Amino acid sequence: MKTKTIYICQSCGHKSPKWMGQCPSCGLWHTLAEEIFQKEGKKIPANSASSPVPLNSILFQGEERFEIGLNELDRVLGGGIVKGSVILLGGEPGIGKSTVLMQAFMYLSQKGLKTLYISGEESVNQIKMRAQRLGSPPNSLYVSNEVNFENIRDITVQFKPDIIGIDSIQTIYSNKLDSSPGSVSQVREVAYEITMLCKALSVPAFIVGHVTKDGSIAGPRVLEHIVDTVLYFEGEGDHAYRIIRAIKNRFGPVHELGIFEMTGAGLKEVENPSCFFLENRAKEHPGSVVFAGMEGTRPMLLEVQALVSKSHIAIPRRTATGFDNNRLAMLISVAERTLDIILFDKDIFVNIVGGFKISEPAADLAVITAIYSSFIEKAAMSETIVFGETGLTGEIRGVVKAEFRLKEAMRLGFKNFIIPDKSINIDNLKEPYEKINFFGIKHLSEIKEFLDI
Ligand code: TYD
Ligand code: MG
Repeated sequence: MKTKTIYICQSCGHKSPKWMGQCPSCGLWHTLAEEIFQKEGKKIPANSASSPVPLNSILFQGEERFEIGLNELDRVLGGGIVKGSVILLGGEPGIGKSTVLMQAFMYLSQKGLKTLYISGEESVNQIKMRAQRLGSPPNSLYVSNEVNFENIRDITVQFKPDIIGIDSIQTIYSNKLDSSPGSVSQVREVAYEITMLCKALSVPAFIVGHVTKDGSIAGPRVLEHIVDTVLYFEGEGDHAYRIIRAIKNRFGPVHELGIFEMTGAGLKEVENPSCFFLENRAKEHPGSVVFAGMEGTRPMLLEVQALVSKSHIAIPRRTATGFDNNRLAMLISVAERTLDIILFDKDIFVNIVGGFKISEPAADLAVITAIYSSFIEKAAMSETIVFGETGLTGEIRGVVKAEFRLKEAMRLGFKNFIIPDKSINIDNLKEPYEKINFFGIKHLSEIKEFLDI
């Protein structure tokens, strides 16, 4: 068998016959690592091509799914796990990937499913310790310490589990390659083999993959196209909440979020995110505005804070946390023009409380209102919700799913709504609630009335 040395970029997977300091494909430095391949001449058996079949002759009743019971995880998966599908669970080390996987497996085992948790990172004793923290482990939950793919394949074929979990892909290696576990070629090879195995046996799998902040560790990024579903775990180190977001899903939508809180006994589902994110809000404070956002099909109330203060440096600072910086720059210009205020000598900071990230333009009006409120040092009316998209001329545009947003806000006791004019049929909503004030606005300049009083 011939061996060949090549250099592979550990970030993007680019192959090069010789070492280079900078990867010509992704431009990163010092990412090329030597990997040795054993070249087995490719043998393609004669007549192995499959013949095409008419699509209408295929009997298919829809994919078979089973729910985990951990609602927030089921939600991001699009309603449960599809048989034979491979789900990549990526995230920074220490974010809670092993924890959520173990919790999911405990739920599944409680339902009577035979689950197999394969860990290349922790000993079976360590796994047991974690599981005990999370509850009492059911009998049909099996664990194994295995890092060799060929062994994992044999175990899976003989043991016939209903689902497998592999923690983590960076610790598993295949005998086919000489490179070390965690290298791009091993990660890719193992992920591909696991996917083939799962499809053949119709067993679903969760694969854990570590990613660093810049996504530079070999792995998840290069195998996103191999697996069926890619989930990313997000969260700020100093906040207890964790979000699971679907980046890709062959069997469901990708805009849903799963929200959890890390507690002493594992991850707890956050069923009521609006309450969670507004918990410690300082009411009626200049610069603080509550925004009603939508994440997937779920409305979510978030506090938007702004601080406008005199700048003592030549180029004032404009910093947004949880909001797009470029959009903030644009909104500041629109605000200066429309509201007739001077901001060029001001430092402006915008923060979405709780470390949450807002990506929808519906937050524009809330951001500008917070900035204006901080500028004039007056709080907005109490119990007020603001949303609406702002155009360059200061016009306020309607937003999607306005009714969902309003209902959520009313449920939590908000009474005043500064929203795009005629975006909804207000009379339909008013019915069950008392003392609700809707302030429909067409142009940004109108927000002055609600603050300058
Ligand atoms: P872990 O799931 O091991 O992270 P990952 O697999 O993504 O590397 O989670 C590690 C962190 O979670 C660790 O800092 C401890 C914390 N943790 C809790 O706070 N409560 C718990 O019940 C568990 C199991 C972990
Ligand atoms: Mg782990």
